[in-house]
Amino acid sequence: MLNQIEELASKAFGELNKVTNLEELEAWRVCYLGRKSTLVQALRSLIKLPLEERRVIGARANEIKNGLEAALAQKKESLGQGLTALSGCESLDVSLPGRRVSLGRLHPTTQTLDEICEIFKGMGFQIVEGPEVEWDYYNFEALNMPVGHPARDMFATLWMDTEPSTQFGAMLLRTHTSPVQIRAMEKMKPPIRIIAPGRVYRYEATDVTHEWMFHQVEGLAVDKNITLADLKGTLFEFARRLFGKERKCRFRCDYFPFVEPGGELSIDCIACKGIGCRVCGGSGWLEILGCGMVHPEVLRRVDIDPDVYSGFAFGMGVERIPILRYGVEDIRLFYGNDIRFLEQF
Ligand code: FA5
Repeated sequence: MLNQIEELASKAFGELNKVTNLEELEAWRVCYLGRKSTLVQALRSLIKLPLEERRVIGARANEIKNGLEAALAQKKESLGQGLTALSGCESLDVSLPGRRVSLGRLHPTTQTLDEICEIFKGMGFQIVEGPEVEWDYYNFEALNMPVGHPARDMFATLWMDTEPSTQFGAMLLRTHTSPVQIRAMEKMKPPIRIIAPGRVYRYEATDVTHEWMFHQVEGLAVDKNITLADLKGTLFEFARRLFGKERKCRFRCDYFPFVEPGGELSIDCIACKGIGCRVCGGSGWLEILGCGMVHPEVLRRVDIDPDVYSGFAFGMGVERIPILRYGVEDIRLFYGNDIRFLEQF
């Protein structure tokens, strides 16, 4: 009888290895551990054996039965990962479809930056980058704003140093991307055609169109015979590609010490269709960039002869673009991290 039980056990273990799903496992259980199974019948018939034999065979048969039960539980766990066992409990419906994993997306600023870069790359501009922590020299001095120049007040500055710490002056968080113009012209020789995207910082009170940290894209082209017409043509073409030809652009004079003449470009406000609202401050227009022809002093400082070469430059506020395209009513929404707002882009 003992031989018969041993043979049965090895057959049962062999067949358990071949089981691949929960239905097959249940059939296996009925066959080898069910009430009518050979093993259980054999255990029941032990009673008829003499005491000594019953003790030896009974101990071994129980050992085999326990082994088979443990193997069954393990197989069940690996096949159903415990779900079949849990399916009995009322609060779990294993037939429900799984929850959808929500996909992440690019921040609207990143999407806008990518679009701007693509348009300028298509016009032959190369992308360069500069540091966000800058020296006074690059942020102001080399841009024709020496210490004490009143135009420095246009750029409310977050200073890292209280005193100049090197020959480049004190350290600060760059207030605009224009220092990258100087860094690029120090390294490259004309013809130069670059754009420089990045973060900038200003010590300013925030409102619906002003943040203390925002993004700009600087543009610079230096070559022989570059004129104001090239600047206007480039900017109007950019605006047409980004906003569509039905939107209106306005080009006006403005002052920046590092360009001469200087200008600014505005786009008609989408929120009020040019009538005047909170977003455009009642003017019907929203300024997206400052620009102009590179000042001869700036060219001279980087050893480019202004009698031979000329150039144009612009600095664009990136967050103002989705404001103008989608009618976002407050720039502060971009960095408020409210997922309900960000999910719309
Ligand atoms: C400048 O920063 C100049 N560097 C631009 C420039 C470059 C002029 C090259 C000439 C040649 P301005 O401070 O106006 O200029 O800023 C440029 C653009 O950044 C603005 O038109 C506006 O779109 C955006 N901007 C300015 N301040 C803020 C702010 N606090 N929050 C969000 N966007 C701003």
